[in-house]
Amino acid sequence: MYTSNLLPDAHQVAQAFSHAAATYDQAAGLQRIVADQLLAKSSQYHKGRVLDIGSGTGYASAQLAGSSLVDSVTGLDIAEGMLTYAKAKHSNPKLNWQLGDAQRLAEDCTDLAGRYDLVISSLAIQWCHDLSAVFSGVAHCLAESGVFYCATLGPNTLHQLKWAWAQADGYQHVNEFVPLEVLRSKLQSRFLEVEVVRENIDLKYTSVQQLTKDLKQLGASNHNRQAAKGLTGIGRVRKMVQAYETLRTEGGQLPVTYEVYYVKAKIKAKP
Ligand SMILES: C[S@@+](CC[C@H](N)C(=O)[O-])C[C@H]1O[C@@H](n2cnc3c(N)ncnc32)[C@H](O)[C@@H]1O
Repeated sequence: MYTSNLLPDAHQVAQAFSHAAATYDQAAGLQRIVADQLLAKSSQYHKGRVLDIGSGTGYASAQLAGSSLVDSVTGLDIAEGMLTYAKAKHSNPKLNWQLGDAQRLAEDCTDLAGRYDLVISSLAIQWCHDLSAVFSGVAHCLAESGVFYCATLGPNTLHQLKWAWAQADGYQHVNEFVPLEVLRSKLQSRFLEVEVVRENIDLKYTSVQQLTKDLKQLGASNHNRQAAKGLTGIGRVRKMVQAYETLRTEGGQLPVTYEVYYVKAKIKAKP
């Protein structure tokens, strides 16, 4: 059974992403692919007031603000470093930035209630411990006719890296993500209409070092509470790399899979 207490602590996530802000954009290949797909899927709803949850360096927020039918975009993030970076990078006057936790929208952001025509979130909620709180908060922020679009990761993500580590030691080195049925049931308890589309995105890397460096630069290295404490021994790293090398394809590349869920949900009609 899936247990949410394996997921990361909000302060660790905020710290890791704040530290990663300056290097994030260079390493964000997957994040760009997913954000672009999410923006394309939601394009007919790019109007009115928009809330971008886990806005990071502001990539999607800025694109949304560039749409003529959009009046304003609030980029909300738990990492102050990300917000500072986004503010400095994007100057569209339709943009505003807010520090906040996606799991506490209803409590902390009372001024957001019922305001948004579109709530969007790309690759942020997989860091949240309490998805029910996230979805309650989103429902709280949406206008009655509003729509929620989000992209998040499934458990098949980085399965090659998980497997390679399993050959080296018994610790959990890769973040654990929510299975589809758990995600769907949490969504269905808050929203009237729920659609989830699952897609595997297969990337190629030249080395394991490049993959782990990218994960670090993205602030996406392992924060699971079952992670090995302290430094990972050099021998175990070598074993993991050797195992991963056995997956190298004939074309000379290492496969890296991300399992992405694209969600569209509409708010429950108010009684
Ligand atoms: C992988 S980045 C994605 C950023 C951006 N959406 C993009 O597509 O480039 C994840 C972002 O979610 C933010 N985040 C993680 N947990 C959060 C939470 N509980 N509340 C708000 N933001 C959160 C992180 O600080 C980070 O900026």
